[in-house]
Amino acid sequence: MTSKFDRHRRLRSSAAMRNLVRENHVHIEDLIYPLFVVEGSNIKEEIPSMPGVYHFSLDMLAEEMKEIVAAGIQSVLMFGVPEFKDACGSEAYNDQAITQQAIRQIKESYPEMIVIADTCLCQYTDHGHCGVLHEGEVVNDETLKLLAATAVSQAKAGADIIAPSNMMDGFVIAIREGLDEAGFAHIPIMSYAVKYASSFYGPFRDAAHSTPQSGDRKSYQMDPANAREGLLEAASDVREGADFLIVKPALAFMDMVLRLRENFHVPIVAYNVSAEYSMVKAAAANGWIDEERIVMETLVGFKRAGADLIITYHAKDVAKWLTR
Ligand code: PBG
Repeated sequence: MTSKFDRHRRLRSSAAMRNLVRENHVHIEDLIYPLFVVEGSNIKEEIPSMPGVYHFSLDMLAEEMKEIVAAGIQSVLMFGVPEFKDACGSEAYNDQAITQQAIRQIKESYPEMIVIADTCLCQYTDHGHCGVLHEGEVVNDETLKLLAATAVSQAKAGADIIAPSNMMDGFVIAIREGLDEAGFAHIPIMSYAVKYASSFYGPFRDAAHSTPQSGDRKSYQMDPANAREGLLEAASDVREGADFLIVKPALAFMDMVLRLRENFHVPIVAYNVSAEYSMVKAAAANGWIDEERIVMETLVGFKRAGADLIITYHAKDVAKWLTR
């Protein structure tokens, strides 16, 4: 007698059967681990709102890199936090600044490591905005020149990928042309194409000391209510030469990961941002959730939505869980 209904449970009957039909997996190679580097020496300071994430001085970064490499992580995202800040973020495009030094140091010790440079001005400006200000407004086209100079300086230091995150219009083409002219036509651009003006960056801004001193970022980052606009942003970036597209934040914007996956054929990157991390850590510290299972379910969710790569502060833990 044929059944009158479908028996979906047949394929869930044992762990081996479930393994057999699993559609998505998280691999260590999918993970990109963010690093925060500061000036000085002998500094390894935990970021209070991000337990397990630290500020490293260059000497202590060397120790950390050993752990990262041993864990099997093959790409890092570099954030330099300079002491000196000014109105036009000059440390961003100073070849001797902390970010450039950190990139050089990692590439010297670990030439195989993919070092991705976050290319923005907000950590470097005294006002904390992602571009230069004119009468309190972030001005687009003037900022582009500085961004291109920053990207070139990072590429000179050895960055393998340039990741512009400041959401100026035309930032991808400005950086592409800058890199090409400086002899870096081979360096790819991972664009923060769909980046929202989000409250989920709070802990990061503590970490990067990059909170705007006045106003907010809503005139350049996207309104969380908008989806179609994200497709326009992504289309511009692909046309201008983006080799990867980032969706940021990831958790509340998984539909955008799926939309980009369905509309573009470049690799899609989900940025599992700071508050997504901090919320999990806080709940886990209280014993309210099972940290490993929550994190793995979240990350496989990004893969299921269509992400190829995941930028996540959980990367070191995940690498351990995956190789246990
Ligand atoms: C720089 C930048 C930010 C983040 C990554 N690059 C902050 C912002 O745009 O305000 C946030 C990352 C995170 O929250 O983990 N513009």
